[in-house]
Amino acid sequence: MPPALRLRPARATDLPALLALEAMFPGDRLSARQFRHHLASPRARWQVAEEDGRVLGYGLVLLRRGSARGRLYSLVVDPAARGRGLGRRLLQAAERDAAAAGCTGLTLEVRQDNAAANALYRRAGYDPVARLPDYYEDGADGWRYTKPLGLGA
Ligand SMILES: CC(C)(COP(=O)(O)OP(=O)(O)OC[C@H]1O[C@@H](n2cnc3c(N)ncnc32)[C@H](O)[C@@H]1OP(=O)(O)O)[C@@H](O)C(=O)NCCC(=O)NCCS
Repeated sequence: MPPALRLRPARATDLPALLALEAMFPGDRLSARQFRHHLASPRARWQVAEEDGRVLGYGLVLLRRGSARGRLYSLVVDPAARGRGLGRRLLQAAERDAAAAGCTGLTLEVRQDNAAANALYRRAGYDPVARLPDYYEDGADGWRYTKPLGLGA
């Protein structure tokens, strides 16, 4: 039988696995302190993808005070597990969480040179609403995307 993949909320004990995932790609990483903060925050909505006890990816939405628009703060899939539809599943789960929390839309920022992520978001119905020049640590430009979350998101 193929190993079962499941999505679940994050727990504090996921921290080492989340840090290991974060270490797999360069630049603008979340620190251990930031992870701890978001793991404990009532305004954070996590989805962790786990297979055979291994964390293969996660999505993190932050709910904002006074705004009906949530922010997709981070979405990462282990390089060894990419191309299997996991990023799309995590994104859909993040959208469902945000809608269930009362968000009417999601916003996110991504590097313009991140082809995989830009393709994922555009295919999922996100609209580029702003160019973000010099947005990242290394001077790379970004895109801001938004998507309305209607019924059935
Ligand atoms: C972006 C990322 C989350 C995609 O995860 P994934 O599990 O490989 O993506 P999926 O298999 O669900 O692919 C979904 C869609 O994304 C797009 N996509 C994914 N990888 C792609 C690639 N290498 N090149 C072009 N498009 C790609 C495609 O449109 C794909 O749909 P399709 O297969 O029907 O064409 C993953 O590459 C990743 O973790 N990257 C590093 C972290 C990151 O950049 N996060 C996003 C910015 S916060």
